Amino acid sequence: MTKKVIVIGATSGIGHSIARTYIKRGYKVGVAGRREERLEELRNEFPEAAVVSMQIDVTTEDFTEMLKQLVEKMGGADLVVYSSGYGVENMKLDEQTSVREINVNVSGFVKCVGFFFNYWCDNHLRGHFVVMSSVAGIRALGVTPGYSSTKHFQAFYLESLRQLAVMRGADICFTSIKPGFVDTDFIAGRNYPLTQPREKSVEHIIKAIDARRKNCVIYGKWKWIAILMKSIPAPLWRAIGKLTIVQSDRPRL
Ligand SMILES: NC(=O)c1ccc[n+]([C@@H]2O[C@H](COP(=O)([O-])OP(=O)(O)OC[C@H]3O[C@@H](n4cnc5c(N)ncnc54)[C@H](OP(=O)(O)O)[C@@H]3O)[C@@H](O)[C@H]2O)c1
Repeated sequence: MTKKVIVIGATSGIGHSIARTYIKRGYKVGVAGRREERLEELRNEFPEAAVVSMQIDVTTEDFTEMLKQLVEKMGGADLVVYSSGYGVENMKLDEQTSVREINVNVSGFVKCVGFFFNYWCDNHLRGHFVVMSSVAGIRALGVTPGYSSTKHFQAFYLESLRQLAVMRGADICFTSIKPGFVDTDFIAGRNYPLTQPREKSVEHIIKAIDARRKNCVIYGKWKWIAILMKSIPAPLWRAIGKLTIVQSDRPRL
C-alpha cells in the first residue's frame, strides 16, 4: 500500500525538501503551511504525483480541525513531520516574539502530535511522528531564550509520549531531529558558523526517519558539538554566553 506522509511546514526550507523527497519516492504526500502559493508551486512541480495540500496556520483555533480534514483528504497518515517553526535572537525578551515562538513551536506542536497520537492509538494504527527540534534545544541559550526552550520542550514532550504510548498500548514511533545551522530562510542574512547545506542535511534527516531513530543530531561536526554542549558544567556554560556576547559582531537586540 502507498505510504502516506504529512509535512506541516512544507512551504520552505527543510520541510519543503522533505516533502519533495517523499513525493519523488512515490508516496502520497500532504503538504501544509500558510503560504498557499508555495503549496501550489509544489503541486505544479509534480503534476502526476499524489500531493494533497492545505493552507494551515498552526497558531489558529481551527488547527486541529484542519488536521482532521487533511487526514480525511489523504485517506490516512502513516508518517507526520512537524517542521513548522519560528525563532529569532531575543536578548531584550520582546514579549510578542516569545509568545509567537511558544505558539508555533509549543502550542501548534502539542496540538499536532496530540491529534495524531489519538488518531493512531484510537484506530489501532501504526504511526510515526517526527519533530524538527534543534541543537539549540540541547542547552539553554541566552541569546534565544524562547526558541531554545521551545525546542527543548519538543524533544522532552516526545520522550513523555514514548512512555504514554507504552501505557496506552500504541504502536507509535517518535523522532526528534536536532539540526545545527542549516542553510534556509530561517537563518537568512546571518553569518552563523558551520552552516550546513540544506539538501545534505535533509539527506541525513531522511536517513534518521527511515531508521526510526528516537533522537538524531544532524550531522557531522554538529554531533560532536552536541556532545560537548551536554558535557559543559553549568557555570562554564554561563561564562561562554558572556564571551559570545562580548565577541559578537551581531547588533545587540
Ligand atoms: N535552519 C536552521 O538552521 C534550523 C536549525 C535547527 C532547527 N531548525 C528547525 O527546522 C524547522 C524548519 O525550519 P527551516 O530551517 O526549514 O526554516 P524555514 O524555511 O523558515 O521554514 C519554516 C517553516 O515553518 C512554517 N511556519 C512558520 N510559522 C507557521 C505557522 N504559523 N503555521 C504554519 N506553518 C508555519 C513556514 O511556513 P509558512 O510561512 O508558509 O507558514 C515554513 O514552511 C523549524 O522548526 C526550525 O526551528 C532549523
